[in-house]
Amino acid sequence: MAKTIFITGTSSGLGKLTAKHFAQQGWNVVATMRSPEKETELTQYPNIRIFPLDVTSPAQAKEAVEQAIAAFGKIDVVVNNAGMGAYGALELAKETDIDWQFAVNTRGPINVIRAFLPHFRANGGGLFINISSFMGVTTAVPLGSLYNMSKFALEGLTEGLYYELKPLGIELRLVEQGGSTGNNFRENIAWSNESDIKAYDDLTSKLKSLMSTRDTSQLSAPQDIVDVIDSLATRKSNQFRTVVGDMGKSLMVMRNSMPIEQYLETIAGNF
Ligand SMILES: NC(=O)c1ccc[n+]([C@@H]2O[C@H](COP(=O)([O-])OP(=O)(O)OC[C@H]3O[C@@H](n4cnc5c(N)ncnc54)[C@H](OP(=O)(O)O)[C@@H]3O)[C@@H](O)[C@H]2O)c1
Repeated sequence: MAKTIFITGTSSGLGKLTAKHFAQQGWNVVATMRSPEKETELTQYPNIRIFPLDVTSPAQAKEAVEQAIAAFGKIDVVVNNAGMGAYGALELAKETDIDWQFAVNTRGPINVIRAFLPHFRANGGGLFINISSFMGVTTAVPLGSLYNMSKFALEGLTEGLYYELKPLGIELRLVEQGGSTGNNFRENIAWSNESDIKAYDDLTSKLKSLMSTRDTSQLSAPQDIVDVIDSLATRKSNQFRTVVGDMGKSLMVMRNSMPIEQYLETIAGNF
């Protein structure tokens, strides 16, 4: 019998590619997104069902899970992919962006996991794959503190949950993606307010320039990340935390091989 995967944030980037990949592999796919009425591509697949889900809403998460179960009976794998970035100086950040960063990247997976737990408990198991970032296990740039916070928290949530869900047969995995092509992530970044405070201008322009001129050869092919999700979903890999991409891998090596003070000074020295 075909297995079923539930994915958040499938309107673009990694989420959309993952939905198409699993549909092509013969899985049933529940593709969720904030605005299903705009979707024209995933609607072409007979084994993809699309349901509305803004992950910041616990009520909508419950509703989407109910719709998914009604459509396919049993859900085997859940991919918490939806995410956004709030970048810029913390002092200048809009209050709404601070809350939104946490609401989407951290509270969102909490909402989806809580909505799925009764189903997974009843089934005696299930798998959550949480899409994090190398920015969830290490810091790499200035002005990314809110994004770091949201993904570090996702990492802590996932590790912490491991202990309480293992006895129930429910598993968790983390994918640290290191940036890839073919997504809207950079376009969707919520930058801190323009302001008459000039103290952060220099760092801000350096970071914006780094992001706009970043060598795409340092980025992962999106399919490499999908292949990692595939190997986790099909149990070819049991790795708890998988880092994808050379940039993330080399930062992790650096972070793990240096005293933290040396690491921080090395990164700060790049700016
Ligand atoms: N690209 C990178 O450089 C990078 C690096 C490391 C980690 N990541 C992580 O990888 C994941 C996928 O991102 P991506 O690279 O594919 O970027 P993307 O193209 O911007 O995709 C993000 C997806 O999340 C959705 N989303 C945003 N807020 C949402 C909400 N409140 N409820 C439901 N969906 C929401 C977006 O939908 P809408 O169309 O409705 O906005 C979009 O479908 C994210 O968790 C991101 O943090 C990305």
